[in-house]
Amino acid sequence: MDDHTITIDGAEIPFQQGQTIMDAALAAEVYIPHLCHYPGLTPRGNCRLCSVDMGNKSVAACTTAAVAGQQISSDTPALNAARKSITQMLFIEGNHICPSCEKSGNCKLQAMGYYLGMLDEHFPQFYQRREIDASHADILLDRDRCILCDLCVRASREVDGKDVFAIAGRGMDAHLIVNSSTGKLIDSNMAASDLAANICPVGAILIKQEGYQVPIGQRIYDQNMINEVGLQEKAVKKTKQDDD
Ligand code: SF4
Ligand code: FES
Repeated sequence: MDDHTITIDGAEIPFQQGQTIMDAALAAEVYIPHLCHYPGLTPRGNCRLCSVDMGNKSVAACTTAAVAGQQISSDTPALNAARKSITQMLFIEGNHICPSCEKSGNCKLQAMGYYLGMLDEHFPQFYQRREIDASHADILLDRDRCILCDLCVRASREVDGKDVFAIAGRGMDAHLIVNSSTGKLIDSNMAASDLAANICPVGAILIKQEGYQVPIGQRIYDQNMINEVGLQEKAVKKTKQDDD
């Protein structure tokens, strides 16, 4: 009797106790689309890109524990259509103007759009106007491009041990805040070498002075699809547990 396998799209996938469906899938080189998941960080279930069908319900693969015998569907036309709609909504909720963004070609949101066959934004643009923080000598924070994935929050807390970021507000008012006396990055202890400064999937947190060192056309997702890159990402090591 094999009680340590789940089935994803007809393929038997082994898992270890404590792994989520996403963990097991990635370990078996099965890609489930995701934007707010990063191996090693506590999963949050924010973006819902990783929603999969399990029986008659839909669950987030990144937060749902793998349990023996689960029958899961992921790569289906209906789920990929829903993922495309979510990606389109993320595009219109922020200012994701790819040709004028220095993250173009290195951006996971843009790459997800390509992966899912997104040809336009479909929904009307919100044209967000959130505060930009250019106070830090080495790091730029452009909140208009933030997709509220929470990766920088977790990276700062769990790996950098600093707790520089948090998400405040709800719904349309949700936004990234900086935990410093002035709310500005310059008054935080953030450094350009922090994981939090380098994990942003979009162009919301950028390292200054290096945006165009790699020319457009030669960047990560100019050369590779997001599923190929997603299967290569190595787990980061936590130095501190996320305790909220
Ligand atoms: S700044 Fe980037 S990493 Fe942080 S929540 Fe926004 S999109 Fe995610
Ligand atoms: S990757 Fe699972 S909800 Fe974002």
